[in-house]
Amino acid sequence: MKFETILVRSQDSIALVTLNRPDKLNAMSMVLKEELVRALRELDADKVTRVVVITGAGQKAFTAGADIHEFQGRTAMDQWRMYEHGTLYDAIERTAKPILAMINGYCFGGGLELAMACDIRIASDRATLGQTEINIGIIPGGGGSQRLPRLVGLGNALKLTLTGNRVDAAEALRVDLVDEVVPHSRLEQRTFEIADRIASRSALAVRLAKAAVRASARLPLDQGRLYEQS
Ligand code: COA
Repeated sequence: MKFETILVRSQDSIALVTLNRPDKLNAMSMVLKEELVRALRELDADKVTRVVVITGAGQKAFTAGADIHEFQGRTAMDQWRMYEHGTLYDAIERTAKPILAMINGYCFGGGLELAMACDIRIASDRATLGQTEINIGIIPGGGGSQRLPRLVGLGNALKLTLTGNRVDAAEALRVDLVDEVVPHSRLEQRTFEIADRIASRSALAVRLAKAAVRASARLPLDQGRLYEQS
């Protein structure tokens, strides 16, 4: 796979996708988003890959969010209309294989939405996270207004979204915004430990279990139980 803004490296059945614009804190340009969608489609179809891990290049950032330089000349309403594209977040949700976010640093705005769309979030103790769009006069547009309250509850979601405050990894863990925090030096080892364990389970069972558990976020209990049995 050939890309300009991401790197894809496979290690046995685990594919590591690295957002690769470290000098721009891995900000997600339109090109990067399009490449990520393409990589996920190809990895989902690939017979060897069982689990995908997404991370950021360099020492500072998972991703600082959407590329704000691309916003120039757009009004807040223009920006809101751009969200109709929403394809990256839909692509993550559509991927049948588990996707782990390995959050190695800054994780803001659209970057947090990317992490939230993933299945499991493992963060470095150096990570800082925030739903920061309000600081630049816009609202979350990659599903953040819906996924954040499902993860952290309504009050915490409103607090994060309306203040635009950044929180450290410990606070993110406390409110369930991430699933695990590890010392920075152990981040890759621990993430791959989890990925390997998942990859060693039955591929079909993993796929069905992921779909059923994710369905619980959108279905009432009685319908979810029917989904599990269908
Ligand atoms: N889009 C595009 N470029 C970005 C970016 C973004 N979201 N975030 C950072 N960058 C670029 C900066 O423009 C700078 O590029 P330059 O060296 O060519 O000027 C480079 O990344 C480094 O950023 P800098 O601000 O110098 O790093 P820092 O460590 O001092 O601060 C942040 C880091 C993340 C706190 C700060 O860059 C920031 O607030 N970024 C915007 C985050 C944001 O609003 N995200 C939500 C978008 S939906």
